[in-house]
Amino acid sequence: MKKIAIFASGTGTNAQKIIDYFRSRKDATISLIVSNKSTAGVLLIASQENIPSLLINKEKFLTGNAYVDELKSIGIDLIVLAGFLWKIPASLIHNYPDKIVNIHPALLPGHGGKGMYGHFVHDAVIASGDSETGITIHLVDELYDHGRTIFQARVPVVAGDNAASVAKKVQVLEHEHYPRVIDSLLQKQLSASHA
Ligand code: GRF
Repeated sequence: MKKIAIFASGTGTNAQKIIDYFRSRKDATISLIVSNKSTAGVLLIASQENIPSLLINKEKFLTGNAYVDELKSIGIDLIVLAGFLWKIPASLIHNYPDKIVNIHPALLPGHGGKGMYGHFVHDAVIASGDSETGITIHLVDELYDHGRTIFQARVPVVAGDNAASVAKKVQVLEHEHYPRVIDSLLQKQLSASHA
């Protein structure tokens, strides 16, 4: 049974889709929801779904053990970032090599990096005059939005689009693809562990 932890700072619509996708699975489960914000909507989802949650402290996360002991004691195999706004510390990355995945609401390497989240991303896409945008699902390394890209999906940016309309189109792609890409990562882990 592969155990997934979802890290999120916000509403948690991606977390909900991931929970729904894995709901009836016997080989994988969402074992923990981690947030840095006590008011995050994702914590409400955790309680509605009876999934244990962990509200993390900045000091401990960024300069302490990064909650590695807690994650290991639960047996977490994969960490899924779904709108988590803190940078992942090196100690967590070293303990979960190629096992932390993130989704960015643009086509990296464009419109990524520190401070590029939520509407800031879509504002930048509109301001750039790009004719398309989309999502990038990537492994997490020690730089913001920089690890190996696993998957990208694209959507046109058309005349009349604004940050809000682009955000909506991108969110459709996020919900459509993130759960399945996470699943394919897990299948790779499963087959690697049986190799
Ligand atoms: C999404 O735009 C995702 O691409 C980004 O953070 C946002 C999370 O949205 N990483 P939600 O909280 O899952 O609705």
